[in-house]
Amino acid sequence: MPTLPSGPNAPVNASADSLFWRLDGGGCSLVLVAQSGALPRLVYFGESLPKDVDAASLASAVSLPLAHASVDNPVPASVFPMLSTGHGGPPAMRGHRGGTSFGHRFDLDAVEQSAQSLALRLRDAVIGLRVVLNVSLDASTGVCAWHTTLHNHADTPLQIDWLASASIELPVPFCEAEHFGGRWGQELQCRRTSLDNSPLLLESWRGRTGHQSYPGLVVGEAGFDSHGGQTLIAHMAWSGNHRVHLQRDDNGVPVMQFGVGYHPGECELAASALLETPVVYLAVGTGRDQARQRLHRYARCELLPAWTREPRAVHCNSWEALYFNHDLGALKTLIDAAAEAGAERFVLDDGWFHGRRNDSAGLGDWGVDPTVYPDGLHPVVDYARQRGLQFGLWFEPEMVNPDSDVMRLHPEWCLRLDGVETPLARQQLALDVSRSDVQAYLIESIASLVETYQIDYIKWDMNRDLVLPGDGQFAVAAQQPDAVRLMMQQLLARFPTLEIESCASGGGRLDWGMLGECGRVWLSDNLDPIDRMRMQCAATTFLPSEVLGSHVGHARAHLTGRRTTLSTRAIVALGGQFGFETDLRGLAATELAELGHYTSLYKTHRQWLAEAVHWSVVGLPAGMLAEGRVAVDGSQALYSVLATSATADAPAGVMRLAGLANDARYTVEVINASLDELAPYNRALPRWCLDGVTLNGSVLAMRGVQLPIMPAHCALLLHCKRVS
Ligand code: DGJ
Repeated sequence: MPTLPSGPNAPVNASADSLFWRLDGGGCSLVLVAQSGALPRLVYFGESLPKDVDAASLASAVSLPLAHASVDNPVPASVFPMLSTGHGGPPAMRGHRGGTSFGHRFDLDAVEQSAQSLALRLRDAVIGLRVVLNVSLDASTGVCAWHTTLHNHADTPLQIDWLASASIELPVPFCEAEHFGGRWGQELQCRRTSLDNSPLLLESWRGRTGHQSYPGLVVGEAGFDSHGGQTLIAHMAWSGNHRVHLQRDDNGVPVMQFGVGYHPGECELAASALLETPVVYLAVGTGRDQARQRLHRYARCELLPAWTREPRAVHCNSWEALYFNHDLGALKTLIDAAAEAGAERFVLDDGWFHGRRNDSAGLGDWGVDPTVYPDGLHPVVDYARQRGLQFGLWFEPEMVNPDSDVMRLHPEWCLRLDGVETPLARQQLALDVSRSDVQAYLIESIASLVETYQIDYIKWDMNRDLVLPGDGQFAVAAQQPDAVRLMMQQLLARFPTLEIESCASGGGRLDWGMLGECGRVWLSDNLDPIDRMRMQCAATTFLPSEVLGSHVGHARAHLTGRRTTLSTRAIVALGGQFGFETDLRGLAATELAELGHYTSLYKTHRQWLAEAVHWSVVGLPAGMLAEGRVAVDGSQALYSVLATSATADAPAGVMRLAGLANDARYTVEVINASLDELAPYNRALPRWCLDGVTLNGSVLAMRGVQLPIMPAHCALLLHCKRVS
């Protein structure tokens, strides 16, 4: 057994051939055990263990039998599984020195423990590598953060094909997983699968998080759901190529790994160099809700920019109202209507810069187009400010059109592989933003506009996959996400009050890797509330709802063609940072008034909503979607419910309101602008829908309120207020 530090760094417990480490916090415990000289295993991560639990007995209880037909001394998966020990499952690392040193054998060198964290130091003396597994457990939320550092001690470089940020052994009863993917406009479709012997592999090779495969998983015991069953949510904070791998090992133990996806030859660690992986966050709970509530609290306290704690402004975005038809007159009337409907920030989307009359030209030339804006953006900005609105501007910094001055001047700035033509996407190419000259150009271009127009907010878009992401010779895809964050950090250092939103053709970059700089994400370009409600429910698995940009779109959704009422669109938009992305100029006075009703509801409730506890509503019939947000102090709550189609039975089910304080009494009211929509379908409404009802939180959770007959696409908004 290697020598381990004594004193404050000593393991919590030790027996003849075992060492134990334990972290506690936020209602959770995490226990690692190293036995018989092997690397530590994660033997427990879940709800708090009793203080006096005997770690040796725990290790004994979960120790594995020895089977035939394997190496003589098999080593369980451990926190850093290695093929060299005879472990047959996926290894934590694949690396070599020009083809040699293809196998590695790490020993535990030392473990440093502080109140809330462990640094497990591993060493391979033969190949000259050191690994540190950094594991911490947040004292207030119980969220575990896990990442890996690799140090090449030798004097030759190491080529890395794979390095897991975290390799997590899951409790054996975990046999089901949910993963999320989709496409542009249909982000975060949830798929559920059983964990049998086939591996589950989620990958993105698109150079961004991507719409197709989200780097997050929900895993749990059979039948886990929102409120029941041991559940764990895992997510890697990384906005580039990724691999998420989940497979049962030879002992039937499910092992989950997250890591950066490297192109061939992309990751070479020079002699003496360090490689730091992205962080994987893990949260447990009884059911999905408890686990995601932990993640939300952690994101709010530890990750998100401070401005996300302030009241989030109501946006009016020009995109779906005007697209590329920028015209000062049209913009002014849109701003007028936006102000009337209660908007607080006007966002000028794509189409304002040099040569950008459609999406075939101009990208990369970040000067205001003088043919459309002869006086610069001043007339629009000034007008918005006169009407009391802040000003936001759209950028797509990482991209260029071949038909742009910047590309004519600097063709070498593009990501490429010499001799192979890069396919265009949306008629654009991607810049190599890891280059310092590209960064300097972009930062200066953006900064001078922010300064000139005192811009309050930037929508930072990114609209294509990185195909052939090289510097001419070598792949540099993994450098791009960090470079993007670096540019954002430099801008934020110069403009500390600037707000940045992460958008990538809608929801192509929704991961926690962006949350430190971007306190808002654009979930999808699909504004159809029926799809949007599904996406919002899925997104809150990982993201607190106040960071989800959520706009009221056109009556006939541009991406799906579906028609919905203004009330349904507004109720769904209230599930995030509320705003408008519709041609408000065409709204009748009654519609503007109706929209105003929901805008003022948002303004009334947004402050507590930004800290709210998210609850799912379970037990509704097929076709119904619902969610609830309860104030941290239990004083009030909002629940929304949507009929995505006509229901099988006439009444739309019983809505059980989870999350209220059991002993308190609440008055529940429907707060739609009007209930006229329901009248043709209900000869009589349930009485509480008209008069409200006051009941105990426990009764509302267990028995619930009877929903009326709801036509397809109808939404209701319920407000609960604690009665003093
Ligand atoms: C894609 C974004 O998701 C849209 O909201 C819009 O900003 C367009 N790009 C503009 O080109």
